[in-house]
Amino acid sequence: MQKERKLVIAGNWKMNKTVAEALDLVQGLKRELAPVKEVDIVVCPPFTALGEVSKQVLDSNIRLGAQNMSEQNGGAYTGEISAGMLKEFSVRYVILGHSERRQFQAESDALVAKKALAAHTAALKPIVCVGETLAEREAGQTEEVVGRQLRGSLAGLNKEQMQETILAYEPVWAIGTGRNATPEQAQEVHAFIRRTLAAIFDGTVAKRVRIQYGGSVKPGNSRELMSQADVDGALVGGASLEVRSFSDIIKNTI
Ligand code: PGA
Repeated sequence: MQKERKLVIAGNWKMNKTVAEALDLVQGLKRELAPVKEVDIVVCPPFTALGEVSKQVLDSNIRLGAQNMSEQNGGAYTGEISAGMLKEFSVRYVILGHSERRQFQAESDALVAKKALAAHTAALKPIVCVGETLAEREAGQTEEVVGRQLRGSLAGLNKEQMQETILAYEPVWAIGTGRNATPEQAQEVHAFIRRTLAAIFDGTVAKRVRIQYGGSVKPGNSRELMSQADVDGALVGGASLEVRSFSDIIKNTI
């Protein structure tokens, strides 16, 4: 498929996989995906598996991401992980502001913005997540909510940093529900996100930023979703936990 921006497809393993299971999965993905050059491939294991998975992907086309990090560089922050610690394992990407963290850890846009700045300072690429709930969509507030999340979560980034940031549009009602946004619904919000980036930054930045879609992406819908003009990749949860489904999601877009 011809795209204006190179697709970036990331697997968010969430709180799944022991080290042994993570190794099985990444070894399978390496075998299946070795010939793929058309798509940037990222896996985001839990922190505890980063060290071992990192060794496996060193000589491959798979890049490593983390699922979260602290906005602090270090110190008395029990249970937190800094950008510098992630860099030790050759982590290149970090998911920030996932809706599960916004919901269960009460992460705010302001906190996500601090984390995004800290990530850039350490030369990590943030994947900043935004998306409305079902109630917000049904109340006709999708653009208002996503616009507010974008302005808040990207506050303080300069144009260069923004170009190196990936956005993920993940409607909360589509995450883990089996009910994906239709390609038209995704495209509509992605186009809105790009217009918002043009307003906050400028047109060049807006044209360059890659916007992933997330929420029940599967082998059967990845091609149609990725064929939309402003959909530049996917953030995959459930279907990234198996070699077959994650590699088919990627291969089906080529
Ligand atoms: P899902 O999760 O693919 O299981 O819907 C997506 C996500 O939370 O990133």
